Amino acid sequence: MTRYNGGYMTHKLCLAGATGWAGSALAQAIFKADDMDLVVGIARSSAGQVLGDVLSVEGMKTPIVGSVDEALKFDPEIFFEFTRPDVAKANIIAALNHGCHVVVGTSGLTDADYREIDAAAQAARRGVLAVGNFALTVVLLQKFAEMAAKYIPHWEIIDYAHSGKIDAPSGTARELAHRLGESQLDVSLDAMSGPKESRGLRLNGSQVHSVRLPGYTISIDAIFGMPDQKLILRHESGTSAEPYVAGALLAIRNVSKLVGLQRGLDSVMEF
Ligand SMILES: NC(=O)c1ccc[n+]([C@@H]2O[C@H](COP(=O)([O-])OP(=O)(O)OC[C@H]3O[C@@H](n4cnc5c(N)ncnc54)[C@H](OP(=O)(O)O)[C@@H]3O)[C@@H](O)[C@H]2O)c1
Repeated sequence: MTRYNGGYMTHKLCLAGATGWAGSALAQAIFKADDMDLVVGIARSSAGQVLGDVLSVEGMKTPIVGSVDEALKFDPEIFFEFTRPDVAKANIIAALNHGCHVVVGTSGLTDADYREIDAAAQAARRGVLAVGNFALTVVLLQKFAEMAAKYIPHWEIIDYAHSGKIDAPSGTARELAHRLGESQLDVSLDAMSGPKESRGLRLNGSQVHSVRLPGYTISIDAIFGMPDQKLILRHESGTSAEPYVAGALLAIRNVSKLVGLQRGLDSVMEF
């Protein structure tokens, strides 16, 4: 349950993936936040240890467990999913069934997964906020791309990441395709000559191309083309997880206001 803490509502949190690249940066920010209490973290290889010892943060006493079932015994109010696409959906559904609100940072979930998650959230009367990318520059790119798509009917998306990224397209690209609607193709995929794969994946009406190469960080281009003119909206991340932290904290502070699924951080921001 949310507890009142002399002026703050304290959010009792579980962070799945608390020792990961993204999760460890978020765990440290939660630890510093007056209105949040990280009651348990999930990570298989550090299960049984204390998160502060693993992350070298003095005073952080959060226990680490190896599974969602063990974590839910700590009765978190909010479950933050930051693990891997192959376990994320089961974690989210288990957390909803336990009565948690859920923030999803993990990428790779499909639209079909999100339909199932939405149904579970509606049934439990709980909120799910799924954010393909918590960085402010990505939130702005999404908004600018939505504006461009109202005036320019042709666009394609290129999603870049390092070669070790297991999911493709990225959560950022999936979420952008989910928002933009149907891009016009002057030669339909059925009418084209050559392998259809050369035109990328048709996802929710957008052509999406995923590049996975060493030396790349998460980046995305939304390319809009008109006769004799084009617009390229580009986001480039750096190498740290820092850009995701502020957005993730904002999602935590707002998810309990929702019932059902919302996708994108802008759903809890003012524009
Ligand atoms: N939305 C955003 O803005 C955003 C930003 C950054 C990353 N992401 C996404 O967030 C996810 C995590 O990224 P990352 O780079 O932090 O990955 P990572 O460094 O590999 O961390 C994964 C974390 O999850 C834990 N984990 C993995 N499999 C698990 C399982 N089966 N059960 C329990 N815990 C498990 C890992 O610990 P153990 O291996 O010890 O179990 C680790 O703590 C990815 O999908 C990534 O694309 C999203």
